[in-house]
Amino acid sequence: MLNGRKSLFSGMQATGTLTLGNYLGALNNWVTLADEYECFYSVVDMHSITVRQDPATLRKRSRELLTLYIAAGLDPEKNCIYYQSHVSAHAELAWILNCFTYMGELNRMTQFKDKSAKHADNINAGLFTYPVLMASDILLFQTDVVPVGIDQMQHLELARNIAERFNNIYGEVFTMPQAYVGKVGAKIQSLQDPSKKMSKSDENENASIYLTDSPDTVIRKFKRAVTDSEACIRYSDEQPGIKNLINIYSVCTKKTPEEVVKEFEGKGYGDFKMAVGETVASILKPIQEKQADLLKNKDYIDGIIKANGEKANYFATKTLRKVQRKVGFPDRIR
Ligand code: TRP
Repeated sequence: MLNGRKSLFSGMQATGTLTLGNYLGALNNWVTLADEYECFYSVVDMHSITVRQDPATLRKRSRELLTLYIAAGLDPEKNCIYYQSHVSAHAELAWILNCFTYMGELNRMTQFKDKSAKHADNINAGLFTYPVLMASDILLFQTDVVPVGIDQMQHLELARNIAERFNNIYGEVFTMPQAYVGKVGAKIQSLQDPSKKMSKSDENENASIYLTDSPDTVIRKFKRAVTDSEACIRYSDEQPGIKNLINIYSVCTKKTPEEVVKEFEGKGYGDFKMAVGETVASILKPIQEKQADLLKNKDYIDGIIKANGEKANYFATKTLRKVQRKVGFPDRIR
């Protein structure tokens, strides 16, 4: 709880470009959460350097991600959208929590195993303790709910274990975070392999619609979307490609899948794909225009970065000081 309200925290990496799946499945549903929760969305640049990054690219992408969140509808006056590296409490709490986390626990993290296989030439200690930094992100804000995908569940579970361990020793210091189970967003699948989730890290560019794709690109990708040879638009698990397109069209137009099927009765796949492509392009266009405006408006964005960084710092430091006192660090002389 913060300010008498439940708090919500999510972190996002600026590596890779957000997809239509991120937007329709998550972001789009977060817009109204600020009415109910004290919301924090951190661009987790400290997490990003666990894998080698080009400095200029990381800096540029971090700013793009931050502005994209705002352009997609998150009001930066109501949602604290900030850079993790601007709030040093993240690193300070992470150190302390490292001392309350076991090697064995970290060894079990499947993402560490995957990432160390993928980056065998750079298995650094940061990659190993990444989940502890993530636990610090969450626990610093006395977070009640964390909207995370299934791939981050194990990390969230670890954060809960660390919090519980700490609280058992020192009393109720941390709020016990839970996965956010709200209105489930649409599940958007890959356009090239509809059995897989649409992912920002897919190697096949045609598999994902990026929020930054131009209308032409969007339409071209939908034209190439993998379907089937049934030549009939039905909402069925036997036609996963068509089903995915119906889902996308349905969320974008707020029509039910049944209404969509009816609308395209007797039409060919070509017409349907074109309609989906045009609809998606028309949703992305205003977001892209807003982002471009924001990126040009340097003073405004800098103001947001500063104000939200200070806000995040205020709440994070409050928790950090409590923790430092509990573990026996001397009080600061003021
Ligand atoms: N590890 C998350 C990811 O890669 C990002 C992240 C960092 C995060 N800190 C977080 C997510 C805290 C939720 C809460 O997607």
